[in-house]
Amino acid sequence: MSFKYSDKLMRHFHNPKNAGKIDNADGIGIVGNRSCGDVMHLYITVKNNIIVDIKFKTLGCAAAISASDLLCELAKGKTIDKAMKITKQDLVELLGGLPAPKLHCSLLAIDALHKAIEDYTIKNQLK
Ligand code: FES
Repeated sequence: MSFKYSDKLMRHFHNPKNAGKIDNADGIGIVGNRSCGDVMHLYITVKNNIIVDIKFKTLGCAAAISASDLLCELAKGKTIDKAMKITKQDLVELLGGLPAPKLHCSLLAIDALHKAIEDYTIKNQLK
């Protein structure tokens, strides 16, 4: 089955600027999707409550990779609180829409960010 993706989504897929790993990240979010077998790792560095660096490693489809990359772009430079307010709808709209069977990809990216922030918050409370 092939899907029609927006040009913007394809740009993020072909040239993801935030792909990679942050060594010694302040927070890490790992999520997976049982229905399609995708796995997403999201790393954040936080200074003064602001996400100053964010990277992802996604084993998944074009929509999952594009949603991960765009989410990193959106979250970078935001406070933890503002980053937590980025919605699946924000991502889908900014990606120029997603085919219905690919909507869960954007949700996966949001879940990974929430987990990374949760991880950072827990580690930070333990310091
Ligand atoms: Fe499942 Fe894209 S098809 S994350």
